[in-house]
Amino acid sequence: MANELKVTIDGMEFSAQPGQTILEVARANGVFIPTLCHLQGTTNVGACRVCVVEVENARSLVASCAMPVSDGMVVKTDTPKVKSAQRMVVELLWASGDHNCLTCEKNGDCTLQDLVYHFEIEKPRFPMTSPGVLQDDTNEMIFRDLNKCILCGRCVRACNEVQVNEILDFAQRGSKAKVGPAFGMNYIDSDCYFCGECADVCPTGAITFKAARFAGRPWETRKVATTCTYCGVGCQISLHTHKGKVVKVSGKELHRQPNFGSLCVKGRFGFEFIHDPSRLTKPLIRREKGGALEEASWDEAYSFSGKKYQEVIKSGSSAVAGLASARCTNEENYLFQKFIRAGAGTNNVDHCARL
Ligand code: FES
Repeated sequence: MANELKVTIDGMEFSAQPGQTILEVARANGVFIPTLCHLQGTTNVGACRVCVVEVENARSLVASCAMPVSDGMVVKTDTPKVKSAQRMVVELLWASGDHNCLTCEKNGDCTLQDLVYHFEIEKPRFPMTSPGVLQDDTNEMIFRDLNKCILCGRCVRACNEVQVNEILDFAQRGSKAKVGPAFGMNYIDSDCYFCGECADVCPTGAITFKAARFAGRPWETRKVATTCTYCGVGCQISLHTHKGKVVKVSGKELHRQPNFGSLCVKGRFGFEFIHDPSRLTKPLIRREKGGALEEASWDEAYSFSGKKYQEVIKSGSSAVAGLASARCTNEENYLFQKFIRAGAGTNNVDHCARL
């Protein structure tokens, strides 16, 4: 390729494109560099410095997530200097929060925990101090424990750049710095849309899904890839199930079209209906006028509605109306309106999204 660059990482030469970062080239070629604040698809802020690497002729270590490659660049990711700096960052982050893995919801699915293990840190060299920040337990969907926040800013960028809700930002400075809605408000008092993107991208247990708390550890849950049923967009989601019950919905594991991991409040949190005892699980038929609705098989329901349609259409096409569902796909709704318009001969067709 015309603009192809050559980059050497740990003695291996790789091809790269202009604009790619060191981290992107390393990852594309299977070279591990730890990251915490990096969030694919958002601004590279280089905030946590856990991804630092040595670049030949650079005056200091550079954040690989934010440094674009150049032709002939020589990068080292595993020197003692690099390892010591990365380890120091992890130790400082661990020491500056209340990272009590015993009860943390993210135990087993926490990037900070993974890095502590990766660097074989038994205890940080620094005194451990909990910031003593209050938890936000004021809503039914998202639980926040800012004592576990490492100020990586992934939630801020997910909120502002991915969902473009612009609710979260940093407040205060130094050891008092924290992330949240304006004026220190709780989520429920803010303009938060509860899309849950912040909890999905949080690398620690600072922002978690409330329904999943104490409902099953990450390694006990089974992830089932499926399609959200709330509308015709067809967002790809993962249902996290434990003991036969859905305890959480996430999008980021799949990161597929059309939603690329992002979800709305309904797709993310509206799953309680799955286990609601009053949920309809079989077709119901009112066999006699004024009679009660009775359970029926799908075959019986199809033939019953077919017969009724045949009876009604005898009175003319204007006696028929069709109401489709927003939960069907575009293709299904297209076929349905075609059936009503071309089959029944009426434009009496509508859609539940208008109701
Ligand atoms: Fe690069 Fe945080 S991941 S600075």
